[in-house]
Amino acid sequence: MDKKQQLADLERRAELGGGETRIKRQHDAGKLTARERMSALFDPGTFEELDKFVTHRGRDFGMDQQIVPGDGVIAGHGRVDGRPVYAFAQDFTVFGGSLSETNAAKIVKIMDRAMKLGAPIVGLNDSGGARIQEGVLSLGGYADIFLRNTLASGVVPQISAIMGPCAGGAVYSPAITDFNIMVERTSYMFVTGPDVIKTVTHEAVTKEELGGAMTHNARSGVAHFAVADDRECLALIRDLLSFLPSNNLDDPPRLETADPLDREDAALDRLVPDSPTQPYDMLDLIHAVADEAYFLEVHRHYARNLIVGFARLSGQPVGIVANQPAHLAGTLDIDASVKGARFVRFCDAFNIPLVTFEDVPGFLPGTVQEYGGIIRHGAKLLYAFAEATVPKVTVITRKAYGGAYCVMASKHIRTDLNYAWPTAEIAVMGPEGAVNILYKRELDAASDVVRLRAEKVAEFREKFANPYVAAARGFVDEVIGPRQTRPKLIAALASLATKRDSNPPKKHGNIPL
Ligand code: HXC
Repeated sequence: MDKKQQLADLERRAELGGGETRIKRQHDAGKLTARERMSALFDPGTFEELDKFVTHRGRDFGMDQQIVPGDGVIAGHGRVDGRPVYAFAQDFTVFGGSLSETNAAKIVKIMDRAMKLGAPIVGLNDSGGARIQEGVLSLGGYADIFLRNTLASGVVPQISAIMGPCAGGAVYSPAITDFNIMVERTSYMFVTGPDVIKTVTHEAVTKEELGGAMTHNARSGVAHFAVADDRECLALIRDLLSFLPSNNLDDPPRLETADPLDREDAALDRLVPDSPTQPYDMLDLIHAVADEAYFLEVHRHYARNLIVGFARLSGQPVGIVANQPAHLAGTLDIDASVKGARFVRFCDAFNIPLVTFEDVPGFLPGTVQEYGGIIRHGAKLLYAFAEATVPKVTVITRKAYGGAYCVMASKHIRTDLNYAWPTAEIAVMGPEGAVNILYKRELDAASDVVRLRAEKVAEFREKFANPYVAAARGFVDEVIGPRQTRPKLIAALASLATKRDSNPPKKHGNIPL
């Protein structure tokens, strides 16, 4: 065969993957092929493939008769919004995208390269797991990847998309990465599948119920995003990357904005209802202050009492953490604490300033929470905010009660600028709870309990349910009009742009996991 012909033939075979029939099956299942996914991920024409002709070394089970150049994974680098990104895409048409020794080596190669060059790593997962014909060689390949995931954590952003099966130990690579995106109906993740569960525990559960996109988005919190299809998934990865620096030594990219920096929003003056027990939607505030009202919410379906996600203020990416009074009254529970802590630590690792909007009546009471370990889980959020050295700005809109006051980026744990709206109530607890404890004896003995309680509540509210005691101590730097929130935040971030802070030297802390 002439040399040119030989190369063309190899290229064609690599690009055909598992062949027309399997490609059709992939399309019929509503999925793009690995190659199509790579083209949609990267800026047009920028993808550079590596190791296209790598083949497996299997000789057993007739594997020597089934050689596909590339061996079931496409790996390489390209540009996203002009910035370099490394990625791999498992090709389900080749041995079900299963991981062989050689295809793991391809993934490891791009991970090592990305770490050295300081570029994000994106994994597009669609695989039947360990290549069964290769046994421990495949398992070793997984462990090689897990090690890189761990070493890359906090050095370069790592994003996993689950675009097909991801089962068994294979789930632990996405689990270590920073964000998991799951495609609805075509993806699932579980450590042991429905058949094993049936045998061991006699539970009957479908794949979708056990590990589908909504299970992991709404219930387990394993996934951060659910998307309708592959195209939406890849567009979301691009959007997410636009908020992130390429590595931990870079600052996140600023984006030009046409949104006026001094834009005030009069509607915010009416956002907090007169009644302290009436909910409102904290997302209204986030949208009102963000550039072009754009907020990329992370973990939208999980622990909805806490909102986390990315926005831009004057083009500067920020991580937003906000209590949501419209869900569980904005209390902090186990799930919200863990969700918040992980997000805060991500932002801190990647130089993304933190903006906290606070309206929290405290930690959620109850045996479920206490037995579940709210003490150690709540401590995670406290720990994360306290150790974060990025610029931190907090706005208290209404309640800042009890331990949750301390936890939610208070002045005492190194928040740089703390603002409060005039509607803020900063106290050990709400007026009703406080009066019940402080005046228990008087209330028990009173002839008109209702009147006495109302009087004492009004007295307490007057004295403590406001931002001025905290402002008098300097725990709140300024009481601001709600409408001024956007300009104030932008000015605050500008003033903090050169912030440098550090933690005592140590190998690593011991966050209460
Ligand atoms: C080799 C595999 C494979 C695997 C699938 N294939 N999984 N080949 N090793 N792990 C091949 C099939 O033989 C088939 O080849 C093709 O991929 C497509 O598979 P189908 O079964 O036809 O597809 P589908 O019906 O969509 O089912 C997909 C599937 C199923 C649910 C993923 O294939 C499956 O259950 N596979 C085994 C999953 C598994 O148990 N893996 C090991 C898990 S343990 P042809 O030639 O017919 O196209 C693990 C440990 C990781 O992964 C450890 C890390 C520490």
